[in-house]
Amino acid sequence: MPDEEQISLFDWQEPQAVSTPVTVDPEQISSNAQTPIPTGFYETLDQLTTHCQQCQRCDLAPTRNHVVVSRGNPQASILIIGEGPGQQEDETGLPFVGRAGQLLDKILASVKLDSQKDVYICNIVKCRPPGNRTPTSEESAACKPYLLEQIRLVNPKIILLTGATAVRGITGDKRGITKIRGQWLTWDNYLCMPILHPAYLLRNPSPAPGKPKWLMWQDIQAVRAKLDEILSQ
Ligand code: URA
Repeated sequence: MPDEEQISLFDWQEPQAVSTPVTVDPEQISSNAQTPIPTGFYETLDQLTTHCQQCQRCDLAPTRNHVVVSRGNPQASILIIGEGPGQQEDETGLPFVGRAGQLLDKILASVKLDSQKDVYICNIVKCRPPGNRTPTSEESAACKPYLLEQIRLVNPKIILLTGATAVRGITGDKRGITKIRGQWLTWDNYLCMPILHPAYLLRNPSPAPGKPKWLMWQDIQAVRAKLDEILSQ
């Protein structure tokens, strides 16, 4: 099948919330972002979700409607990290459910990855930055212990970093995403692939060779091939 036809197979499926909150004593966690949350603090993602829902560690807390923790499968082989919730994510409490998320699901489906079964999706920050601005480094740092715990508890085979904010938030690399997309990197023993953010593809919809959508098609095929290789070992 020609590449353009495959790219156009991107379909949308309704996402579902991942976890049922359990009760955790809010006193157990500091509302001061300077106080670290140690590795291994959470035994389960449900505990983490409950804490996140009560979180006051940064200035995004007062303006949020929902804390957006994750969607997808906590046992998935692929963990996807975005930047932060937008309006629809803030309204629903689920990451990547707006237009960029619908495109992300289509991109995954184009290589037969199911967004509910094969991936676990989360963000650098769990609360919406007002006006969809980029999260500040303080906000990202305040939220990072939760993300690190999500990564530890999911323990994926591959991490996809969507866009420069996700790359910077995880690896500290400040280079532009167009420079580093498509190149495998190892962070904390995890195999990571930086990819373009789907919102960037929405602004640049041409499928022509070398354009963002075409580059994404190359990258997602590389991810599928690597996953198949890992799973066949
Ligand atoms: N963009 C992101 O990076 N994350 C979301 O959850 C939604 C849009």
